[in-house]
Amino acid sequence: MNDIRHCPMIETENLTKVYFNNSHPSVQAVKDISLKIGQGEIVLISGPNGSGKTTLLSMLGCLLNPHAGTIRICGRDVTALSQKELTEFRLRNIGFIFQNFRLLDSLTVMENVELPLVLAGIRRPVSRDRAAAALEELKMSHRANFYPNVLSGGEKQRVAIARALVNDPAVILADEPTGSLDSNAGQATVQLLREASRKRGKTVIIVSHDERIRHFADRVISMEDGRVKKEERP
Ligand SMILES: Nc1ncnc2c1ncn2[C@@H]1O[C@H](COP(=O)(O)OP(=O)(O)O)[C@@H](O)[C@H]1O
Ligand SMILES: [Mg+2]
Repeated sequence: MNDIRHCPMIETENLTKVYFNNSHPSVQAVKDISLKIGQGEIVLISGPNGSGKTTLLSMLGCLLNPHAGTIRICGRDVTALSQKELTEFRLRNIGFIFQNFRLLDSLTVMENVELPLVLAGIRRPVSRDRAAAALEELKMSHRANFYPNVLSGGEKQRVAIARALVNDPAVILADEPTGSLDSNAGQATVQLLREASRKRGKTVIIVSHDERIRHFADRVISMEDGRVKKEERP
């Protein structure tokens, strides 16, 4: 019921986020953003540090509640879902690639990739088989039983991508995925995301200020001070 495959887009209306702190003035990190993103579209969100990119991405990924405004993912108003419904929706429909990978060091590569399936209630052997297939696709099968701390940066990133793809989500969100990689590994990462998008119609949203990956995107959205400053098609 929560599956949004075959659906067209992400749509936000007047999306706003204010962070409240007891001891400091509140911060309006995202101001009034209205966006439409099509199915299969690859969008790059760029902009200086502190411009609200991570905050926007976190709201699109249902990890952070907006202060005001709405987010529809395939026509579904996710801002109206309960916390439990939101978690289930996220596990089924959204894959995340975090800054610095966020692999769990106490789990093997295989267990890391399997984790989103386990959280979604999918059991072995199905979860194992699907994790193995995702690792195969990312050419990381030979490291399945390794722990993440012995992998190179590029290898960690491929495991993180496998983990993001394993649920076959409609939407993949990546925050600074090339940030800690050298140029070649960074380009390879974005190329893999582009292939996933083109092959399987996935909507990919990448936050980055890495100019070298602009040409991988269908659209570049530049943010400044919590707002969309301009949109371009490279
Ligand atoms: N949890 C938080 N509490 C208070 N302020 C925050 C919090 N997270 C981010 N901010 C502030 O919100 C603004 C936008 O941050 P962020 O979305 O992380 O920007 P970016 O990803 O573009 O660097 C910044 O001014 C940042 O300091
Ligand atoms: Mg950020």
